[in-house]
Amino acid sequence: MKIEPIIKGVVARSAHPAGCEQAIKNQIKYVSRSKAITQGPKRVLILGGSSGFGLASRIALTFGGAKADTIAVSFERGPSEKGVGSAGWYNNIYFKQQAEKAGSKAVNIIGDAFSDKVRQQVIDTIQQELNGKVDLIVYSLATGVRPKPNSDEMWHSAIKPIGEPLKGASINFEHDSWIESELPPATEKEIIDTQKVMGGEDWESWVDFLINHDAIAPQCQTIAFSYIGPECTHAIYHQGTLGRAKVDLHQTSHALNLKLAAFDGGAYASVCKALVTKASVFIPTFSPYVLALYKSMKDQGLHETCIEQMQRLFNSKLYPTPIVDGERLIRVDDWELKDSVQQQVAEILPMLNEANFKQLGDYQGVKTEFMQLNGFNIDGVDYDQEYSLETLKSLIP
Ligand code: NAI
Repeated sequence: MKIEPIIKGVVARSAHPAGCEQAIKNQIKYVSRSKAITQGPKRVLILGGSSGFGLASRIALTFGGAKADTIAVSFERGPSEKGVGSAGWYNNIYFKQQAEKAGSKAVNIIGDAFSDKVRQQVIDTIQQELNGKVDLIVYSLATGVRPKPNSDEMWHSAIKPIGEPLKGASINFEHDSWIESELPPATEKEIIDTQKVMGGEDWESWVDFLINHDAIAPQCQTIAFSYIGPECTHAIYHQGTLGRAKVDLHQTSHALNLKLAAFDGGAYASVCKALVTKASVFIPTFSPYVLALYKSMKDQGLHETCIEQMQRLFNSKLYPTPIVDGERLIRVDDWELKDSVQQQVAEILPMLNEANFKQLGDYQGVKTEFMQLNGFNIDGVDYDQEYSLETLKSLIP
């Protein structure tokens, strides 16, 4: 069979293995030619390491100067009679191949990061492969659900405004369409549940678990990712349910910073730029801003994807010495928030509508990045190649 893109709404239901492999190689090439990460970590645990910022961190830390050994936890689907599997599945496979070729260790643990089973697997692997300790923990999970500890129930996140309803548009990649909608404000329960899923509680419990298992190396750091954005996005993000969860994450970074001070280490929330990832395309009413932002940042030569963001984070903002703002946040959203960028966004955004979003915003660029996340539309890949399910199943993450 040939592998074709199958897009449902904003979800990719197929992924191209050779495209994912080429995307990994392209990112490796980028970081190996960039300013190197100096005094970086050698043993890294990445929670959510198969796509987006987590995968980009893994590539940057292994190939961008630090030569780190990595363990990545992710929740991905392999090939089966139902489909070829998810892009993250293939990213894990091809990252590991490239890392091992370069002499670095790369272990993939695929399972639910909220489960005791995966925690135990991580500790066992740290002991076997990383001499029992880690120098950096990257927390990059993005999910809509989190199981309640010791229960069969789940918390579900709800991406909504708080207080007032919000009108806005979302993009549908399946039909290349613009859909107007109105979101009701979140209920109190939705606000709390979103914080449980995307706030800092699970990050803290992971670090506590590693401390209790004596797996923290001297000067160990931990980092998680956040978003603040300009005022025009605040209703859906910063002042909405997600923003509440991120404030909780920021507060957790301070609590973890105190705990890691005992190891001469530290904990940080890094505020990143808005980007197309598997997770971010789900944020309702956010896409028009992303279309305007991509147009503006590309016009001004400032556009970055996950890999550029992570290489810059590690080579200039976290290592050799963390650089933080007045609220102790690391800012890699600095280029997004430049006046020149936001002025152009403010000109484009109010004009965008159903008829012109493909012309005035960077729809082509945003859609291409979305396809590339899933291994499609990548230069140099033979999309006529035939695959059998057996061949796909023989690839082991
Ligand atoms: P992503 O969807 O590309 O990656 C999420 C990762 O989490 C994947 O590796 C996935 O396998 C893993 N994962 C999800 N549920 C899991 C589970 N139960 N067990 C194990 N692994 C699981 O997401 P993205 O966008 O890279 O998000 C990472 C973080 O960055 C999030 O905290 C997000 O809020 C933040 N962020 C994202 C921005 C964006 O524009 N994409 C901007 C600023 C921050």
